Amino acid sequence: MSTEPEFRPGLEDIPAAKSAVSFLDGKKARLEYRGIPVEVLAKESCFEEVAWLLIKGDLPSQKQLAEFDHDLRQRRAIHYRLKDLIKCMPADGHPMDALHASVAALGMFYPCKTVADPVKNWDASMRLIAALPTLVTAFARTRRGDEILDPRSDLDHAANFYYMLTGKEPTPATRKVLDACLILHAEHTMNASTFTARVTGSTLASPYQTIASAIGSLSGPLHGGANEEALTQFEEIGGPEKVKSWLDGKRAADPKYKVMGLGHRVYKVKDARATVLQEIAEHAFSESCRPRAYETAIELENYAAGIYGPKGIYPNVDFYSGVVYQSLGIPTDVFTPIFAIARVAGWLAHWTEQLVGNRIFRPEQISIGKTDIAYVPLENRP
Ligand code: ACO
Repeated sequence: MSTEPEFRPGLEDIPAAKSAVSFLDGKKARLEYRGIPVEVLAKESCFEEVAWLLIKGDLPSQKQLAEFDHDLRQRRAIHYRLKDLIKCMPADGHPMDALHASVAALGMFYPCKTVADPVKNWDASMRLIAALPTLVTAFARTRRGDEILDPRSDLDHAANFYYMLTGKEPTPATRKVLDACLILHAEHTMNASTFTARVTGSTLASPYQTIASAIGSLSGPLHGGANEEALTQFEEIGGPEKVKSWLDGKRAADPKYKVMGLGHRVYKVKDARATVLQEIAEHAFSESCRPRAYETAIELENYAAGIYGPKGIYPNVDFYSGVVYQSLGIPTDVFTPIFAIARVAGWLAHWTEQLVGNRIFRPEQISIGKTDIAYVPLENRP
């Protein structure tokens, strides 16, 4: 008698890899990159150091970090033909679609016939980390009719991104907020986009194709796209005093209504990253100048806790990130691309890990369709 394998929708609780890149305890809101708590890294470290830590496995020495930082700065610029390509993209297209296409196109300038050489793979990893901010800002600027700005090698990763987007150098406080946001979003165990990266990587596709696939996965509203949706939701609600009637109305119309920025497959308490992002927001806004969207978010978190808390549904990273980005003057549809600028470090760490003793992903399905059906020629069909 054949026994059918158990089907777990969404592969819930099914390990897809053994990984040492990060650790997550969803009951204790504990997230560690290579053993170091993420909130410590957000305060003490910088994105460049975290990217090295994730991919290489240990904190860099001073010399290693200086060289890595230098190498990243050398790889920020993109070919003028890639800029021309980005200029030709539809201005009303989504920046995540532009990024997806741009990363695949970037790979055409640096063909990887094999992924067997760790030195070349490291070089491609550095180029991807370095060039993503250039690709994101090139589209963000050109679609509004502004000139694309070349990267500045005198600015660090976060500051250079802000400069290329806005044409202004960030204040030290803004730079620190952006840098912390990049750190908080850099890695998160076996989420959908990381799994996508590992699946594509397992076919020995190029690192550019691997990262382009992961970007596609991140773009969806159930994953990275939720940061944009969460801010739009706070604006739609219109103010903290309208939270109760808004949520009651949504739930009356659809008892399964999903509040954007709440819930997580692994977390059963508030996401540690949401807590840090809220601290950043609290620091940025004094009581007197809190944006309406932030006031609305706080009220929604409180009201939703009474309804969804017993089910373990609390704010995830996307709940407060949009409010923070908005306070920096960043357009709403660039929030998810910023997520990609950060998460590329985690994706590449997993890709590097996947290639060691790689085996192509090829899961099973439970077939529920018809079998052994006779082919009817077209002329004999009604
Ligand atoms: N609002 C209201 N109810 C929710 C929410 C939510 N945001 N999230 C989950 N639930 C409820 C579901 O209705 C379901 O209820 P039921 O048991 O009565 O049927 C239960 O909680 C389980 O929900 P699932 O959707 O099955 O949980 P899953 O683990 O598959 O999905 C996900 C996780 C996609 C994050 C989900 O919570 C969600 O859609 N959240 C909103 C979108 C979001 O914020 N995504 C960002 C996640 S973080 C990240 O990717 C960076």
